[in-house]
Amino acid sequence: MNQPLMAGIPAVNAPAYVKHQKLINWVAEIAALTKPARIYWCDGSQEEYDRLCAEMVAAGTMKKLNDAKRPNSYLACSDPSDVARVEDRTFICSQNKEDAGPTNNWTDPAEMRQTLNGLFDGCMAGRTLYVVPFSMGPLGSPIAHIGVELSDSPYVAVNMRIMTRMGKAVYDVLGSDGEFVPCVHTVGAPLAAGQKDVAWPCNATKYIVHYPETREIWSYGSGYGGNALLGKKCFALRIASTMGRAQGWLAEHMLILGVESPEGKKHYVAAAFPSACGKTNFAMLIPPKAFGGWKVTTIGDDIAWIKPGADGRLYAINPEAGYFGVAPGTNEKSNYNCMASVAANTIFTNVALTDDGDVWWEGMTKEAPAHLIDWQGKDWTPEIGKETGRKAAHPNARFTVAATQNPVIDPAWDDPAGVPISAFIFGGRRSTTVPLVTEARNWVEGVYMAATMGSETTAAAVGQQGVVRRDPFAMLPFAGYNMSEYFQHWLDIGKKIAASPAELPKIYCVNWFRTDADGKFVWPGFGDNMRVLKWMLDRIEDPQGVKTGGVEHLFGVTPRFDDLQWEGLDFSAEQFATITSIDKAAWVKELELHAELFDKLKHKLPAELQGVKDKLEKKLAA
Ligand code: OXD
Ligand code: MN
Repeated sequence: MNQPLMAGIPAVNAPAYVKHQKLINWVAEIAALTKPARIYWCDGSQEEYDRLCAEMVAAGTMKKLNDAKRPNSYLACSDPSDVARVEDRTFICSQNKEDAGPTNNWTDPAEMRQTLNGLFDGCMAGRTLYVVPFSMGPLGSPIAHIGVELSDSPYVAVNMRIMTRMGKAVYDVLGSDGEFVPCVHTVGAPLAAGQKDVAWPCNATKYIVHYPETREIWSYGSGYGGNALLGKKCFALRIASTMGRAQGWLAEHMLILGVESPEGKKHYVAAAFPSACGKTNFAMLIPPKAFGGWKVTTIGDDIAWIKPGADGRLYAINPEAGYFGVAPGTNEKSNYNCMASVAANTIFTNVALTDDGDVWWEGMTKEAPAHLIDWQGKDWTPEIGKETGRKAAHPNARFTVAATQNPVIDPAWDDPAGVPISAFIFGGRRSTTVPLVTEARNWVEGVYMAATMGSETTAAAVGQQGVVRRDPFAMLPFAGYNMSEYFQHWLDIGKKIAASPAELPKIYCVNWFRTDADGKFVWPGFGDNMRVLKWMLDRIEDPQGVKTGGVEHLFGVTPRFDDLQWEGLDFSAEQFATITSIDKAAWVKELELHAELFDKLKHKLPAELQGVKDKLEKKLAA
């Protein structure tokens, strides 16, 4: 189909290596609707990446950073209205409302299609439609899946090259009839003939729409992060979670890390935390000096796809190929490996620009530079910051960097077979109530802990910050179907493993964020989280607790002070008590919040979870 479709609509011009007629037809169909000026098929090459970046520099969308300071790196600054995920504009359009569940926005799919057909009609006028083929997960892995994003944003095309396995090789896996998830994205800013473009086109109207039954994604109006890089939250979590339910696997908002003891014993754990709770830091943790010989390596920092293997164990891959991490707060101390990762070949978004052409963000160094251009292009000095409260970098400013730049990337990070998971960790940001670490006594209790997780909100999503919201499995904004059925799916997976020869992974609940009476964090966190991780591994190696002890209480098992290795850290038993104590009155209140959540989710809520809650309430009342 190399002829123009209609007057004003460009030729599809699919390269000869694209053999998938259904895909070519779909590109033609979307082009007929969106009416771009041209269609460009991305091949994923370095030359293409460099060229698109140069074009964005010329257009004012990106700035090239000083090559001597930050080689081959760019700074993009978004429109101030387009800086985070928009959960209230995110929709799960399943046929039946109850399949989306009470935690998702829902609109009838026929009605939504009509709305979007109106909005998408001519939405790419004057722009290029980029065809972006990508694999979520190692190419050809039995755990991986393919998507194709059609976007009118070159920023999306270059970010997708970093964040996914993007390019020509995807078509070899796709062949002539392979399955792919179609993703359509527009910034929603058509250009009239001769109209000058703005640096960051977007639209005040935004729709991030998922059709779970037909596995399609349509995104309108935003060029930012998870709203626009559709492989990430939209595909790898919302659509993939529905695929996982249908096919018996898990798509989770989890980092995956490997941890190896000095004796060479290695385990992989997957950990779920809500956005901006330090997942990237945990995934790249450097053990304290006193843990000589212990090594932590990264498989992924945000998303895990986990499928049962032939031996009954759960095997995980990182579906992504890069990190889209929060920059503010990242420094050589909090995450040395991350700073090393972003030393070159990185796209920064919404950080500040230094006078010598490098980047800066709050928390990068103790002292801010004397002068900066802030993320909104305005002059910024520490004095201005103090007077106005204006940040130099947006609190949700990001870096996009290839996983291969991580100095502690795990050797198996790209292994198509995935890595076996020994434990799941769930954590929220809670200044009170939730102890440092608790081990669930069994799978159902662990699922309950994860289901009732709460966390104080952060800047990753638009909305009020610092209020506790329930965030089951850190999946509240990302589950593509009814949350109660998602809990049931986890319970079913547990039963399946229990019936196999494999051991069930252990489940832990952690909280790094408890504060003292002055509001200061008590736990040092970062590398010292290794102390908690080691206790978990001791327990995995010694499941009966013969050597590793711990105390059993209301909610599970927690370590005693002496069960953690303290060498190299001045941390008293009293401090330990402040972050591990269980305040009965606070827990009575906490359980009232669990009850509220369960009431909201009562439709199809697994009886087993209600059972755990009833037992806890009885014990608390005793
Ligand atoms: C993210 C998020 O960007 O969770 O990873 O918001
Ligand atoms: Mn995330």
